[in-house]
Order: sequence, then C-alpha cells, then structure tokens
Amino acid sequence: MAILLDCDTGIDDALALIYLCSQPHVELVAVTSTPGNVDAAQAARNNLALLELCGRPDVPVVIGASSPLRVPLVTTPETHGPQGIGYAELPPARRTLDARDAVELWVEAARARPGELTALLTAPLTNFALALRAEPRLPELLRRTVIMGGSYYYQGNTTPTAEWNAHVDPHAAAEVFAAFAGQPEERLPTVCALETTERIELRPEHVAALAEAAGCADPELVLPEQPEGLRSRASNGLVRHVSDMLRFYFEFHRGYDQGYVAHVHDYFAASVAAGTAYCATRTASVHVETEAPRLMGTTVADYRGLWGEPPNARIVSDNRPDESFAEFVRSVGALARTLG
Ligand code: BDR
Ligand code: CA
Repeated sequence: MAILLDCDTGIDDALALIYLCSQPHVELVAVTSTPGNVDAAQAARNNLALLELCGRPDVPVVIGASSPLRVPLVTTPETHGPQGIGYAELPPARRTLDARDAVELWVEAARARPGELTALLTAPLTNFALALRAEPRLPELLRRTVIMGGSYYYQGNTTPTAEWNAHVDPHAAAEVFAAFAGQPEERLPTVCALETTERIELRPEHVAALAEAAGCADPELVLPEQPEGLRSRASNGLVRHVSDMLRFYFEFHRGYDQGYVAHVHDYFAASVAAGTAYCATRTASVHVETEAPRLMGTTVADYRGLWGEPPNARIVSDNRPDESFAEFVRSVGALARTLG
C-alpha cells in the first residue's frame, strides 16, 4: 500500500504519521507539508522529527505552498501548541528537507506509478489543489484519495458551520471537489468529516493501554486532576512524546467543554487510507462555500441528487471507534516496543 501523505502537523496529523510508520504493509512514499495548524516550515520540521523518532529517516519530506490560495493563512497554536505537537519537544531531525517542491513531487510520483498511489490529505487542500492544476489527470492516476475535511449536517469546529481544513483554504477545497465531479465511484475521494471523526475520541485509558502495549515500566497516567502541562516520564521515547502531545490535546478539548478527550480526526483518515478501519460511505455532491462571509468553508453534501450534479465524494457515514483504538494501541505499541 503506497501512500503519499500531505499534512499540517498538528497533533492528530502526528498520530496519523506515527500510525502509518507502524504499519508494515504501508510504503510511505513521501510526506508533504501544508500550512494550516502551523506554518509549512514548522509542519515540515515536525514531519522530519517524527519520521526520525519512528526510525524512518528515509522518507522524503517536502514543502509546497506557504499560504492558502486566496485568503491569508491562519494557524491554531491554541489547539495544537506553539509548535503543533502539544507539550512534546522532539529532538530536531539530523537531516534537512528534500529540495523538491510538494506540487512537483505529487505530480511526478503519480505519473511514475499510475494506479498505485493512495493520496492521504489531512490538511487544508492547498498543495493538492495546486497539484490538480498542474496535472488534471490526478484523479485517474491515483489509486485512491482519502481526505480529512468538512462537516455535513453537523456543527463545525472552527465556525458554527465550518471544519478547520475546509475553512483555512476554502478555495482549494472547492477546486478539489470540482476536479472529482463525474469520476466513477471507486475514484471519488473518501471523505472523513467531523460527524464521524469526532467519534474517534481518544481518552486517557488509551494512553495507558498504549504504554502497556509498548512495555513501559510504569503505568502512564494522564489524568484530568493533574496539573496542566505535566510532562511524561514514560520509559519508552515514542510513548513519552505521544503522551506529551495528547495531554495538550486533552486540555484543549476540555477548554471547549468537550471533556478530557481528544478527537484524533487524522489518525482515523490514515487508518481508512491504510485499509485497516471499517467505514461505510455515501456518495454525494459536495459544495464548499467561498463567498458568504459567515459561511466561508462551510461544506454541504447533496446526497439525493437535488442539484442534478454528478457525485464528487464518498462521505464516511459510519465507523467503529472501539476497533480504531484497539488497532492504534496494538500497532503503535508494537512500533514503540521495537524502538525502545
Ligand atoms: C482537522 O483540523 C486540524 O486541526 C486537524 O489536524 C484535522 O486535520 C480537524 O478539523
Ligand atoms: Ca491536520
């Protein structure tokens, strides 16, 4: 399973990346870094450091666009921490970025391996929209496309109606969905949106289970009654960093009255791309709002063909959170054990 990942790393992007590194059947072709949760340079630094942490310094990391297509970049340090990885302080990577541009890399890779690559997009769709401008045949050249973005008949997490990735670059999202209109069903992007990704609600017990699976010497307790910002002392490096990221994410969600939990949207999208998660989907024609000021980035799905337009997406309509966490703990726990 050859996967090209584009991300704005981000705590849940980091979990997605770590999860893909833990999957022996996944070939991570490259990681491209898009501005969103943090700027593109910081996303790339995080990607390099995470790949080194996971023993994968061979995977190319590149940068593309430095801002959304038509609106100024907004980042979100309150959600993911000043560097995008919560309280974790990763050792900086020993290598530097690959000199290629993300858009060139996407186009070259897709042309070189037609029908083989799965595109996994867990960021605003800026780089992917630019790649589609450069190579409009991308929908046919890719094996599959998986997008984390949007919310359908479900409240937004950025404005009352808009999800973060769609809101940061609504014009890019609109271009991407337009590019897939009329493709056969199997080529339509699989869209993991808030109504199903917010069901993937990671809790302290999952951190404890991860530490146990990794063979940590002591129980890993990340608890709501502990002081904010407490740092992990886990004997396993990967568990320690994941725990420090997640404590920040738990505190953020609690601050928005969602409880001491973390919605790990991008991990779910990664498991869909890797083929390890159950999901049901419904085809739809997706519209992304780019004009109405209060509705910028709002996504609407026409499931019933009322607009008379061909479908451009397969939106995930059901998933299985318990299975997702069992898989995360097993797979990342095994990776952590091998890294020590
Ligand atoms: C999306 O927004 C980002 O903050 C997360 O990384 C995820 O990709 C969820 O709305
Ligand atoms: Ca993300």
